[in-house]
Amino acid sequence: MLKRDFYLLGQGEAESRRLLEQTDLLKPEAERFLDRLNITGGARVVDLGCGPRGLLGLLAARVGTDGRVVGVERNAAFVEAARRFIAAERIANVEIVEADAKASGLPPDGFDLVTARLVLVNVPEPERIVAEMAALVRPDGTVASYEADLGALLCDPPSRAWDRLLEIYTAYAEAHGVDLFIGRKTHRLLRDTGLVEIDVKPIVNVYPPGHPRRTILLDFVTNCRGELVHETFADGNELNDLIAELQHDLADPGRLVTSHLFYETTGRKPR
Ligand SMILES: C[S@@+](CC[C@H](N)C(=O)[O-])C[C@H]1O[C@@H](n2cnc3c(N)ncnc32)[C@H](O)[C@@H]1O
Repeated sequence: MLKRDFYLLGQGEAESRRLLEQTDLLKPEAERFLDRLNITGGARVVDLGCGPRGLLGLLAARVGTDGRVVGVERNAAFVEAARRFIAAERIANVEIVEADAKASGLPPDGFDLVTARLVLVNVPEPERIVAEMAALVRPDGTVASYEADLGALLCDPPSRAWDRLLEIYTAYAEAHGVDLFIGRKTHRLLRDTGLVEIDVKPIVNVYPPGHPRRTILLDFVTNCRGELVHETFADGNELNDLIAELQHDLADPGRLVTSHLFYETTGRKPR
């Protein structure tokens, strides 16, 4: 069942909307992540799997008018959305390339910084994306990954519907070669490509009632609902019941929900 161009969360409008909302929600965290990278004016940056917006606007502001940001994205609809975004915002120093992040066709050793946010956790063969990151960065340049790991995504008190939906979603990901626990392993992937000075910062958040990401598991399951049923990971009626039950459980203000464990992992390419 392994499809090399598989993307876990679907390609449609709902995923595009989710990614745009996520960009706004993650902005403070993204700014802190980029602060750590010491991006200077004039820097050349590539963001692999940039999505419809992602880090593009923040990177563009940091590299300034003398710098250049290239966003690489495979999904044509997201490419269009990203191009509309930079046109609407009159951002002149960003270019979007429609290409596979595993073989982008961009010049090797051509960038001061290569980033990828929340890409490895959604695709098979993540090591090929990391290899491309290491190939694109110049000697002494930085590779920076912001990646998720299912480790801390939990609720307490436990919810039967939460556990079952997580079980279905995990089985679906595994069957497609997607590692939902890639965050904790990203340091290894970077080291294995020859990068040095690997630095790791884990982050976990609480999603209280009313927080848009409290329902992230429901959003994931809803996005790939058609595939889950079609590929017989769950029955449609069971999914409807579980979704309704979890909506009810998450409305309980006494239930704690914690986020994925996010890993900021950076490395330097030796001279
Ligand atoms: C969860 S989204 C994150 C988007 C963006 N980095 C952000 O932080 O908002 C993952 C993105 O990676 C893209 N992607 C996945 N595999 C890819 C590949 N092989 N080449 C290019 N883009 C890819 C998907 O289309 C999607 O836009």
